[in-house]
Amino acid sequence: MRVILGITGGIAAYKATGIIRLLTESGHDVKVIPTANALRFIGATTLEALSHNSVDPDLYTDVESVKHVELGQSADLVIVAPATAAFLGRFAAGIADDLLLNTLLATRAPILVAPAMHTEMWQNPATIANVATLRARGIQILDPAVGRLTGSDSGAGRLPEQEEIVSAALKLAAPQDLAGQRILITAGGTQEPIDPVRFLGNHSSGKQGIALAEEAGKRGALVTLVTANVTETLPPVHSVVKVGTAAEMEAVVNQQLTQVDVVIMAAAVADFRLAQALPNKMKRSELGDELTLNLIANPDILRGLTARIKDEALKVLTVGFAAETAANTNDLQRLAEHKLEKKNCDILVANDVSAGAIFGSDDSSVLVLTKSGGVSAREGSKRSIANHILDVVGQQI
Ligand code: CTP
Repeated sequence: MRVILGITGGIAAYKATGIIRLLTESGHDVKVIPTANALRFIGATTLEALSHNSVDPDLYTDVESVKHVELGQSADLVIVAPATAAFLGRFAAGIADDLLLNTLLATRAPILVAPAMHTEMWQNPATIANVATLRARGIQILDPAVGRLTGSDSGAGRLPEQEEIVSAALKLAAPQDLAGQRILITAGGTQEPIDPVRFLGNHSSGKQGIALAEEAGKRGALVTLVTANVTETLPPVHSVVKVGTAAEMEAVVNQQLTQVDVVIMAAAVADFRLAQALPNKMKRSELGDELTLNLIANPDILRGLTARIKDEALKVLTVGFAAETAANTNDLQRLAEHKLEKKNCDILVANDVSAGAIFGSDDSSVLVLTKSGGVSAREGSKRSIANHILDVVGQQI
């Protein structure tokens, strides 16, 4: 998910580097907005290198993109750490006079603030009132830790540990029920070359697999997304592997199998390929009025996986998809039950593609079956369906 990290001008600003690292290592896309005073303590170059994103705290550059609104709307979570007493005062009063405060006022994402300052400043009635105002508005404010401060003194005012800040913030953003789960998700449709120009392919856009990857990442999973010929924008996930053909997809999935907890085969895999793709383009002028292509079966990747999981007694949960042309819901369920058994996966997500409406659409309608006999129907956005599938996954791991 996209996390905005605001840094304000206190000595603990250097500790923000640890927060960036923890977030990026869990696959989150981190955009850092330091205040002008924060840059007196820590350099923009360091923040760019660690976050892998540009850092430009100037409200008046890239004005055409209405930066603060774009940042505010794109955020899934905002963290401000460290937060100074001055920042708390300006935020409580709604004084949007820099990029960070403008973004904070333009976002609907949950906000976590981690103050750090001297004990006297933390206990000052002005700070106490500002904290109370912000808390009353639903902003989560961590109490500072007690310990050694900048000088020789000690007391309440230290920035809490980076791990504590990150875990409190992630809890605000989404349920972290998949925290640490390694999930491999395939998305898109394989393309099997005929010659250097042509291929055998299918209509899969990859949207459902991408929605699963994005939502799983938000819920704390370490997602490896294997994409086949996807043109959609990819979400920030732990890692992405691009493949073209079923054979390439099979190689990646097999190689990863012992390193994951869950495999979700959302990709549409071509069942056949040319025995031998032609090295040169077939020339229309040299072909007659009929063309016969010699096709051989591709491996069934999912079937191969579930067989290997059984043989090697691996602890990997498998989710298959089924694209069916069914007469009605009962028929769809019957076909889905048959496919769940045939593929021997733990969960099967079936959709009826009769009308062709699902390919490329943002919405879908599915039946989710589990090996233990559970059946649930869902209709709506691919994102909401992704979360339902992940709920079922969460119940089984
Ligand atoms: N699948 C696979 N390897 C294949 C074909 C399909 O791993 N060669 C996976 C898909 O990723 C999906 C599931 O198997 O998760 C079912 O795909 P589907 O195309 O619906 O099923 P088929 O096996 O092709 O069965 P049928 O055409 O008989 O319905």
